[in-house]
Amino acid sequence: MSAGWAQVYDALAPTYDEMTSGNGWSANRRARDLLDPLGLAPARVLDLGAGTGQTAVVLHELFPAAALTLVDPSSAMLARARGKVPVAEVVSADAASFLRGDDREWDLVAAIGFLELVPDLFELLRLAAGRLGPGGHLVVSHEPLLDDGSVQASPVSVVGGEHRVRRHRREEVERRAASYGLRRIASHEGFAFERSDDGPAVYELVVWRADDT
Ligand SMILES: C[S@@+](CC[C@H](N)C(=O)[O-])C[C@H]1O[C@@H](n2cnc3c(N)ncnc32)[C@H](O)[C@@H]1O
Repeated sequence: MSAGWAQVYDALAPTYDEMTSGNGWSANRRARDLLDPLGLAPARVLDLGAGTGQTAVVLHELFPAAALTLVDPSSAMLARARGKVPVAEVVSADAASFLRGDDREWDLVAAIGFLELVPDLFELLRLAAGRLGPGGHLVVSHEPLLDDGSVQASPVSVVGGEHRVRRHRREEVERRAASYGLRRIASHEGFAFERSDDGPAVYELVVWRADDT
C-alpha cells in the first residue's frame, strides 16, 4: 500500500486539475485516441488510480452506458472525481488491495498516470489481467526506462525525499503482460507532461486484450 503517495495526492488535490492543465498532461487524451477507434462497448469499467476523475470523464464520455468504478487511496482526489462523474461508484483503496479483495470481473480496466508510483507494476498488471472477463481490455500508461540520459534513464527516482517513481523497459512490460494472457492491440509512446524540474516526461500508453480462453 502506498500511503505515502496518497498523502502527496491529498495535498495536491486542490490544485491538481489546474496543474495538469498547465503542464501539458496528455495521458487521458492519448488513452481516448487509442480506445475510440476500437469500437468497444464495455458494461463494467474499472478506473484504477482515478485521481480527480480526469480519466473517468474520458471513460464516461466514450462509454456512457457502462457502470464505472473508481479506485484511489487519496480521498481528497476522489472527492473531486465524485463531483465530475456522480454516477460512478467510488472506492478509497490501494489498487492492488482492491483487486485482491474484490472478485468482480471487468470488461475494461484503466490505469492511467499511476503505474510508476506502485512498488510492483508487474504484480498490478497480473492482478488486473486476472479480473478481466474473456475478451476484456486493459488500458494503461507507464513511464518507460529510456536510454536518453534524462531522469527517465534511471529505474528509480526519489521524489520529496521518500516517494519512489519506478520505471521498466517497454520490452519487459510487454513480455510480462504476454505472460498474463494479454495481447497488445494498440499503443503510443511520446510526451506525457512537463515535469516541474526535470524536463519532459515520456509515457507509453498501451491497450491489451485478454485472451478469450
Ligand atoms: C497522476 S494521478 C493520475 C490520476 C488520473 N488517472 C489522471 O489521469 O488524471 C495519480 C493517482 O494515482 C493515485 N495512486 C497512487 N498510488 C496508488 C495506488 N497504490 N493505488 C491506486 N492509486 C494510487 C494517486 O492518489 C493519484 O490520484
